Amino acid sequence: MTEKSYPKVTVVGAGNVGANAALLLLLKDLANVALVDVVPGVAEGKALDIMHMRSNERFGPRICGSEDYAITAGSDIVVVTAGVPRKPGMTREDLLSVNSGIVRSVLDAALPASPDAIYVFVTNPLDVMVNLAFSLAGLPANRLFGMGGVLDTARFIYAIAQETGAEPGDIQAMVIGAHGEAMLPLPRLATVAGRPLPEVVDAAAIQRIVEATVQGGAAVVNLLKTGSAFYAPASSIARMVAEILSPSGQTLSVCARLAGQYGIEGTHICVPVRLGKAGVEEIVELPLNPDELAALQASAAAIKSQL
Ligand code: NAI
Ligand code: 2OP
Repeated sequence: MTEKSYPKVTVVGAGNVGANAALLLLLKDLANVALVDVVPGVAEGKALDIMHMRSNERFGPRICGSEDYAITAGSDIVVVTAGVPRKPGMTREDLLSVNSGIVRSVLDAALPASPDAIYVFVTNPLDVMVNLAFSLAGLPANRLFGMGGVLDTARFIYAIAQETGAEPGDIQAMVIGAHGEAMLPLPRLATVAGRPLPEVVDAAAIQRIVEATVQGGAAVVNLLKTGSAFYAPASSIARMVAEILSPSGQTLSVCARLAGQYGIEGTHICVPVRLGKAGVEEIVELPLNPDELAALQASAAAIKSQL
């Protein structure tokens, strides 16, 4: 029997987020994966460990790992999760400088191997890293964007489900803006089983939902103590990859380059996007009210001030 042919996805960074994203891409039958990490043996070891699951899980795609980008050649998508988290005693500027260096070195190695790929950045601080990568890579805006809003939206939907008792599948909602404290959950536009959220719960509940969403990442960090969230981030990466490879037409909150939409230009920020084979295929403009629009524009200004 001939083997099914799969697209190829490189995942750079075989840490908590990268390794779990790679695993999900295989379990969801989405793509062969090339896993890369700077620490010798880590990517190869995790890839081997995952391949040992194959007889139990019976997934079709394959994974290989290395510190050498030769294995990434000709990838359709490159997901960049390489980076260090902020450690005690490290300033935000220290983190920016270390992760900027990592993003530069990843692009230097990944671009020549996969010049036609779609690049999805995950490394924090997300908005700044995506903007930096865009300025360095010289790729068209549709082929370079970031993951942040899908995760924030997943946390928003979870918080709405917790507060209302509704099933997540019955909830439509989105978080746009920066991936950080300046994110913008949109309760006014959220629906629960087709009903506007503000008709389902009172203002105090909405306040709690927004707070739980914005603090979702910090809540996980406070519990884990040694790192940040990775299961929901990995799942959010897999959702974006799935949408690129087999577009459903749904909009996802993607850290995409704006060129005048929402009165914002010259920066990447999370907005509703239709993803597809070309990457960002359409930026959707929601009917924001003046307060929401002002908050999104302030979020963009905050990102720009860090560039
Ligand atoms: P981790 O520390 O578990 O893994 C990071 C991996 O990157 C390590 O294995 C490390 O060896 C590797 N690495 C470092 N420099 C590298 C280089 N130059 N080339 C290749 N690999 C390199 O961290 P975790 O939890 O996986 O998080 C990764 C990044 O993703 C962090 O910056 C984190 O803040 C960010 N993140 C972003 C999210 C988002 O929504 N955008 C959500 C969750 C995490
Ligand atoms: C999160 O939101 C750390 O960006 C990561 O959990």
